[in-house]
Amino acid sequence: MAFDRSLKIAPSILAADFANFGAECRAIEAQGADWVHVDVMDGHFVPNITFGPAMCAALRPHIKGVMDVHLMIAPVDPFVDAFAAAGADIITVHLEAGPHIHRTMQAIRSKGKKAGLAINPGTGLDAVSQLLDTTDLICVMTVNPGFGGQAFLSSQLAKISSIRQMIGDRPIHIEVDGGVTLATAPLATAAGADVLVAGSALFKGGTALQPAAYGENIRALRKAAADE
Ligand code: DX5
Ligand code: ZN
Repeated sequence: MAFDRSLKIAPSILAADFANFGAECRAIEAQGADWVHVDVMDGHFVPNITFGPAMCAALRPHIKGVMDVHLMIAPVDPFVDAFAAAGADIITVHLEAGPHIHRTMQAIRSKGKKAGLAINPGTGLDAVSQLLDTTDLICVMTVNPGFGGQAFLSSQLAKISSIRQMIGDRPIHIEVDGGVTLATAPLATAAGADVLVAGSALFKGGTALQPAAYGENIRALRKAAADE
């Protein structure tokens, strides 16, 4: 995965048809998605349960490009190896998921994977500044994690700008996750984000069998984000 800061659209399959994930991943990529964002929830760190490493491994052959796995689980350390073996390209863990997140990030990189660091809306940047040398992506949560379809928290925009300044020339992506729509995408990119995760805004109106709306949604989001 070569690094560049061009805009990437990462549909979250949390908004896809759970009975048809393989076809949904193929459809969203064929319609222009850059990455596929896979939301793993454990019913403990967040109040919802999705799926685990076996599902990620099953999805892997259906994703040609980058599989971006967002782990909303605690503890996370016992599961890093399993998600690496499942074929994730990026493994993102929450700063809030445990006391030894630096070690977790090192463990992810030791598996040859990109290490992402997600931060909840209530989390500040002090600890993030200590982790930059082990981080390939910072995921700024613009909703409280657990569910799709929530409203974008504009209070997080200043945090995105601060992170953009903090990382300077380091090859670290800034991903924004939660409530991304045509209205909020340009705010996120103007603040410095280069990866936009979107679930409900990208899957609305289409299905894996009738995916034209996915392509329209992706193109509209790309255009809105460029009109920052
Ligand atoms: C929230 C997840 C997000 C979510 C985004 O816990 O991490 O990826 O699915 O969904 P929307 O775009 O609907 O807010
Ligand atoms: Zn996510």
